Amino acid sequence: MATSTARILVFGATGNVGGALVRRLAAGGADVRVRAMVRTPRSADLPDGVEVVRGDLTDLDSVRAALRDVDRVFLVWPLGGGELTRAVVDLITARVRRIVYLSAIGVRDDGAPAPDPILQFHTDIEQAVRASDVEWTLLRSGGMATNTLGWAQQVRERSTVSWIYGDGGRALVHEADLAEVAEIALLTDRLVGAAPEITGPSVLTQKEQARAIGSAIGRTVTWEELPTEEVREVLISTGWSAATADGVLQAWASTIDRPEAPTPDFAAVTGATGRTFEQWAADHAEDFR
Ligand SMILES: NC(=O)c1ccc[n+]([C@@H]2O[C@H](COP(=O)([O-])OP(=O)(O)OC[C@H]3O[C@@H](n4cnc5c(N)ncnc54)[C@H](OP(=O)(O)O)[C@@H]3O)[C@@H](O)[C@H]2O)c1
Repeated sequence: MATSTARILVFGATGNVGGALVRRLAAGGADVRVRAMVRTPRSADLPDGVEVVRGDLTDLDSVRAALRDVDRVFLVWPLGGGELTRAVVDLITARVRRIVYLSAIGVRDDGAPAPDPILQFHTDIEQAVRASDVEWTLLRSGGMATNTLGWAQQVRERSTVSWIYGDGGRALVHEADLAEVAEIALLTDRLVGAAPEITGPSVLTQKEQARAIGSAIGRTVTWEELPTEEVREVLISTGWSAATADGVLQAWASTIDRPEAPTPDFAAVTGATGRTFEQWAADHAEDFR
């Protein structure tokens, strides 16, 4: 794919999308050198051939060191908003030729204020990237199938998902699809200046997602609808601000009347149909057993 050796730094390589990306790059046979900046190298467990360096996005010196001799970056931002976002983006864009940023559907091209703090920090980062001189791709993800890993313990212990908005529908996307598009964005020029919106290929309600997980593990998984207030308290107890929790709850509630629609972008970029939620559940069956 690449015309000369691409030297890629992957952030978030121990996470869902960054992990799928480094596995793809390591297995792909393309002429690439892959470095992963991780907080805990000892437990990172990355494929052979991936150079692992220790670093933390909150430590600018470590980010600067990780960027040495790199020409492309895949950036995941796991830290919410704050002044650090701009400093890190500026550091990266001053040093590399290309950045692929894992963003979110709902961010607007014109940088208009977002309806919740999560979309707002993605908006801020997108705008900082656009204002730079580098080649960029803003990889906007729809709801990720990995969100349902939050149900894994309940499924393992009780074969039940206790959560809210069971009739809410989303076209959840497989992390492997996001990694596939990210690889194309890093190694070819096809997505320079583009903001592809990547979802899964079909809408399932959350109750249907629970059933699909049940099919994947060979058990009946039932749905228990919880009061919204109870889940709001759970979200806040895990460190979310009230504003983030309320914004996200509102977005989730809206999927009952207006399910998240599948986009055509994955097929347009890859020529293939995206991986289904049923396939995702089969790929992750061990997490739920
Ligand atoms: N979930 C969704 O539905 C959805 C939809 C659209 C966009 N997104 C966006 O996708 C991103 C998350 O992607 P993901 O699911 O692939 O990530 P993830 O699985 O949650 O993993 C987060 C990664 O970030 C690393 N990390 C955490 N704190 C760090 C720090 N201080 N310095 C350096 N690395 C750090 C973690 O490494 P450790 O191993 O050290 O913890 C891990 O590799 C977020 O920006 C989110 O807003 C999510």
